[in-house]
Amino acid sequence: MSILVTGGAGYIGSHACVELLNAGYEVVVVDNLYNSKEESLSRVQKITGKSLKFYECDIRDAEGLEKVFTENKIECVIHFAGLKAVGESCKIPLEYYDNNIGGTVILCQVMAKMGVKKLVFSSSATVYGDSPIPYREDMHVGHCTNPYGRTKYMIEEILRDLYASDNEWSIALLRYFNPIGAHESGLIGEDPNGIPNNLLPYISQVAIGKLACLSVFGDDYNTPDGTGVRDYIHVTDLAIGHVKAVKYLESRTGIDAINLGAGRGYSVLELVKAFEKACGHEIAYKIAPRRPGDLDVSYADPQKAKDLLGFETQLDVDKMCEDTWRWQSNNPNGYDA
Ligand code: NAD
Ligand code: WQD
Repeated sequence: MSILVTGGAGYIGSHACVELLNAGYEVVVVDNLYNSKEESLSRVQKITGKSLKFYECDIRDAEGLEKVFTENKIECVIHFAGLKAVGESCKIPLEYYDNNIGGTVILCQVMAKMGVKKLVFSSSATVYGDSPIPYREDMHVGHCTNPYGRTKYMIEEILRDLYASDNEWSIALLRYFNPIGAHESGLIGEDPNGIPNNLLPYISQVAIGKLACLSVFGDDYNTPDGTGVRDYIHVTDLAIGHVKAVKYLESRTGIDAINLGAGRGYSVLELVKAFEKACGHEIAYKIAPRRPGDLDVSYADPQKAKDLLGFETQLDVDKMCEDTWRWQSNNPNGYDA
């Protein structure tokens, strides 16, 4: 029996493949390589000493997906495939609705047809909008500020409707906080196209000299040092959370939203300091205006993940920065030679 990982060549998916293989699962990856390279999967196999099966396929291609299910005994799907850039989603919302929502609907149709009803979905803390912190899963969600966030909220609702229509489904809506870091081997990590939008990839490209200076978006937030506070989670912890979710789905039917976060926040300047310690030199930064749509503080209540999955984060911010720096310095151009 295999786990199908959609988007498995991407940043989080490749780390999940490592942990699944390490836990003894057989892994089948479907990815259209829109935002990733097949090289990440070669590296996954190098890290684990185990092989996986790869199909270059778009999840909106129902026939292609059916072939994957026919050729493999899939017991559970982890669904990472999607577009994720907040700013881009405001410029090309229809692409986001088509890819993220359309893709998920087709995936679920094929799963239902093939009798596979266990699904782990990559949701996001962005569904909480500006709810009071810490974010708890029983809070009202859906106040998203951008099309990307709305695709996550809408998919959660679609999956709730699916479960309501057929109680044989077993679904986990994993709401990730801010995944950063890289596998400690330095062989896989985040490889953004162009200028990074997110904080840690930006800091690490300043550290390696590809970018001149970090713009800190706002120093007048209601936080101890005035800069934005986020709940950063090491991508390896996040990947282990997926293995635990797969195990959880084996034992029950139902649908649950579950936060995957550390349960505490770090400010932008605290992260800069931690990265300086990891790379051994100063990171040039300047204070810039706030970025529209940004919140002051976001962090998880991690209790439900502990109760249902037995999941708690293990790796701290220093380790997140050390591992990111190892990945960045060993691979200054990401997966490109
Ligand atoms: P990523 O872009 O590195 O990985 C996504 C993968 O999906 C890529 O390999 C891409 O090529 C593939 N893909 C996209 N559309 C596809 C399609 N139609 N068919 C097949 N493959 C397709 O992103 P990531 O950071 O690894 O994120 C994985 C998932 O987690 C995404 O759904 C994202 O929205 C969600 N998420 C990410 C974060 C984050 O900060 N990275 C936070 C919360 C949630
Ligand atoms: C973190 C902090 C910025 C860049 C985003 C998505 C969210 C989720 C995770 C997918 C904030 C500050 C950033 C920079 C900065 N993705 N910052 N200078 O915005 O919390 O979340 O990624 O689901 O949906 O919105 O993450 O890394 O962009 O920002 O000062 O160049 O760093 O203002 O306080 P964010 P981020």
